[in-house]
Amino acid sequence: MEPEEYADKFSSTVTNGFIALEIAIGLKLGLFNSLNTFTSQVTSKELAVSCKLKERYVREWLGCLSAAGFVCITPDDKYFIPEACKPHTESNTISNVLDFGCGPGCLTIKLAEHLPKAKVYGIDIDRNSIEKAKEKKAKENIPNVEFVLLENDHLDESWTKKFDWITMVDVLHDLPNPNLSISDIKRILKDDGIVSLIDPCVHSDHKMNLGNQSAAMLYVFSTFLRLPCSMSREPAAANGSAE
Ligand SMILES: C[S@@+](CC[C@H](N)C(=O)[O-])C[C@H]1O[C@@H](n2cnc3c(N)ncnc32)[C@H](O)[C@@H]1O
Repeated sequence: MEPEEYADKFSSTVTNGFIALEIAIGLKLGLFNSLNTFTSQVTSKELAVSCKLKERYVREWLGCLSAAGFVCITPDDKYFIPEACKPHTESNTISNVLDFGCGPGCLTIKLAEHLPKAKVYGIDIDRNSIEKAKEKKAKENIPNVEFVLLENDHLDESWTKKFDWITMVDVLHDLPNPNLSISDIKRILKDDGIVSLIDPCVHSDHKMNLGNQSAAMLYVFSTFLRLPCSMSREPAAANGSAE
């Protein structure tokens, strides 16, 4: 690797870390939510009013997010997120949703908020996570979500063909027996149901990850968390982040 490339890598990693702070502020203060609900381009003042924030600070946030390319700006200083890039989950046809391996329930609760007419279930084998998720449900007073502790790897028989949508975020690689879980998930999915699966983008051939900072980080998670989880029961797939 050339020294310039090495220095650039340090610089862009630190820069992206700073941008991530501004993204976190936007999530916390509802700026992204508000921008997503506007159907037309807005001024910094309109966005500030909608979030009950000081315009000067909102303008600074927009300066960062537009420079970073996450918010678009018009020639007359109005801001927007392109329609195609906004999250679209609302649907009247969804009645039952399952967040498999829900952890402490952050996504599960968001899904329940976005789909008030649906019943959203979160399941996990980790007792602590389910307790935390139940506390969060009580604190945020979300009626249409239920958290269930999965006592063994078998999903409830009464759930056969129950779900319109099943999400598995960052879970597949943790499963000691992924094939078994996948066939069970297929059983509880409606014939026209959808599974949304997100897993780390890491190659099992280490040579294919050279220079991939995300892969380096994901191997750290793997050492401390994923591999022990995936090796927790026999027979174990022992997938870690990538195998
Ligand atoms: C990396 S966490 C992801 C949590 C959550 N989906 C999120 O994105 O925040 C993986 C989760 O999978 C759960 N898990 C692992 N094996 C499982 C299994 N056999 N059945 C259900 N959940 C499992 C773990 O307890 C953990 O909460």
